[in-house]
Formats: sequence, C-alpha cells, structure tokens
Amino acid sequence: MNTQAAIVEGTGEYIIENYGRLPMAVTRGRGALIWDADGKEYIDLFPGFGAGGVCGHCHPKVVDAVKAQADTLLSHGNLFTNEPQVDLAKRITENAFGGKVFYCHSGAEANEAALKLVRLAAGPGRYKIISFNNCFHGRTMGGLSLTPEGFQKGFEPMLPGSVKVNMGDLDAVAGAIDDETAGVIIEPIQAEGGVNVPSVEFMQGLRKLCDDNDLLLVCDEVWTSPARTGKWFAYQYFGIEPDVMTLAKAVGGGLPVGVCVAGPKHADVLVPGTHGCTMGGNPLCAAAGAAAMKLIEDENLLDRAIHIGQRVADAIVQAGVDCVSEIRGKGALIGMQLEEPRQAKDVMLKCMENGLIICIAKNNVLRLAPALTTDNDVLDKGLDILIDVLKG
Ligand SMILES: Cc1ncc(COP(=O)(O)O)c(C=O)c1O
Repeated sequence: MNTQAAIVEGTGEYIIENYGRLPMAVTRGRGALIWDADGKEYIDLFPGFGAGGVCGHCHPKVVDAVKAQADTLLSHGNLFTNEPQVDLAKRITENAFGGKVFYCHSGAEANEAALKLVRLAAGPGRYKIISFNNCFHGRTMGGLSLTPEGFQKGFEPMLPGSVKVNMGDLDAVAGAIDDETAGVIIEPIQAEGGVNVPSVEFMQGLRKLCDDNDLLLVCDEVWTSPARTGKWFAYQYFGIEPDVMTLAKAVGGGLPVGVCVAGPKHADVLVPGTHGCTMGGNPLCAAAGAAAMKLIEDENLLDRAIHIGQRVADAIVQAGVDCVSEIRGKGALIGMQLEEPRQAKDVMLKCMENGLIICIAKNNVLRLAPALTTDNDVLDKGLDILIDVLKG
C-alpha cells in the first residue's frame, strides 16, 4: 500500500481540487473510529460528513446486507424494480407522512427532483421558490439557486424566481409570495448555515402560509434525517408535515442514496418522462439504506441520538469551556458557537492533530454529528480531546 504522502501527492496530481482537502488519506473505518494511511487512529465524531450518520463506519449489519446484495445483483435499469428499494421506501414513508419516493444518489439531486415536482404541481406560470438565508441546498444549478449568494459567485445567472428571506420572519415570507410562487423549501435545522433551529411557531406559521396560498412546503432533511435529531425526521419536532421531503447522506447507510419523498397528495405528480436517474434505487445502495433504517428500529437509535446530544452538551458545560457561548441543535446534530478570537477551523485542525475528527459550520461554529451507534466510552474520549483543545 502507498504511504499517506504518496496518496496525497497523487490526489494533487490527478484529482480536481474543489474541496480544499486536508492532507489525510483514509484507509479503514469501524464504528466511530477511522485510520489514515500511516496507521494513525482517529475518533470520528463527524463520520462521512453526515453519511455515516446512523450506523458509523462499516456497521456489520450494513456490510452483511451489501455483501449479500453484491453477490446477487449490483444494478439494473429503472424499467425494472427490485426488493431492496421497495423495502427502503416502505421504511421511509411509513415513518414519515406516507406517499411515495423517487431515488437518486445525492442531496442536490434529491432537491432537483423536489424543485421539478413543485413546479409541475403548481402548474404553468408558477415557478418561484422561496428559501432562507444561511440555508444550503446543494451545488447543482437548481440547488445553488436556492442557496445564498456566496456559493453562487461566478455561476450566475441562477434559476429565475429564487427568492430568499430570513428564517424566522413570517412577514418576510408572506411579503415574498405572489401569483407566481410555487413553493417554499426549508431545512428543519440549518446545518451548514451554523446549526440554526427555527421556532415551532415559525414552522407552523410557514405551513399555514403555504396552505393559505396553495404552495408546496419542501423540507430538506438531507442533514437532519433519518434519526439524527432524535426523531425519524426533524420536521416531526414542529407539529407539521411537509408536502415533500428530501433525504441523502445517512439514509444510504454509507452508500450514495438520495431520496425525494412526495406525500400522498403529490405522489403521482412525476409521471413517466418527467424525471429520472439511471442508477437511482440500485439494489446495492438500497440494500445498505434499508439495513441502516432497520438498525434505527432494532437498536433504538432515536433515543440514542437524544442521549448523545445531551451527553455532549453536559460535558462541555461541566468542563466550563469559556469560548463556547452557545450549544445548538437537536439530538446528535450539535453546533457549538465559538467566541472570537477562537477560530472554529483552528480548533478543528488541532483536534485532528490530536486524533479527533469534528467539523465546522458557518459563522464560527464547531459541528459534531456522531454516529448514533457511538458508544459512551469512545464519545467521552473524543470529548476529552475536544475540551483540552478548547481550553488550550
Ligand atoms: C441540507 C442539505 N441539502 C443538500 C445538500 C447537498 O447534498 P449532496 O452533497 O449530497 O449533494 C447538503 C449538503 O451538505 C445539505 O446539507
């Protein structure tokens, strides 16, 4: 096997540098631990950038499901169907708001499907979509149009009719609605934007505005679900149901799965010829996703998400870490607001040096999203490293 330095060098030579990657090559993962190509072990409290969310790295039940499927059939065209995709769809819809799903591979693609569905449902002439400042809905031209301006630079013009207002400001939403508005898209908790949780009143007011104006409400749950926040889906904290929900990251159990869920009223809006994705719902990825969803039930991971969130918050508060002024989020989606001059990125890099993987979000926020299978010993060890760095 090549050394880490050689793999990093090869990355620089052959792979487009659109991420600002750190000089680390990952070779192995198990639960909440990963190893780099030089054999160094890390506690990973941000597995797979959300994609390792439910079950951590290489959960044996997911690996077994993938191996069994790999021995049988990897993919087939979407003129046919397969059992794992039905299994996964049933587990999603039965724990959400019924309806049906469309499969793709990523969050951005799931949002593209939602955008098209919203426009089609709204009918001719209604094309505007309202989204929220500090949101993130992906890097495709549609997702980018819904996402704030910083991400759009150089790629203009965006989709016409992409309107942004502040989350929490119902008057602004009402003011942005006109005869051409088709829908609203919101993350039930803004993840990349700094782990910002809207109020129940705002979410219920938003639902009412959508109902009163015949708009579709889309919840982008790419980061927040399944199970990450302690509910199957984060919208369930707010006493509302969206018309459409998008999923990716953790719903694939570590393999690429994107899902656009349309509630019963809109489940038949996308008809043959309106949308597609060649490998969407392929049996390999669907089997991994179904195994991950099953794990949530079998191992009671909703409660585990709540426990993890509380344990992290308690540890930080008890340690008396002055530079953390607020801890936000729900369940195991955790944001820590850092105060200047401490910089979240410096803390993240120092943690990495000391064997802990965490991440950052906008506005000087540290972000933790441990796998829901992370046991208390490993979590506590990771938190000890973080607290040392924060106090250092
Ligand atoms: C809320 C949200 N929606 C959509 C996306 C895009 O997902 P993907 O990177 O899988 O396209 C992201 C990515 O982080 C996200 O956080």
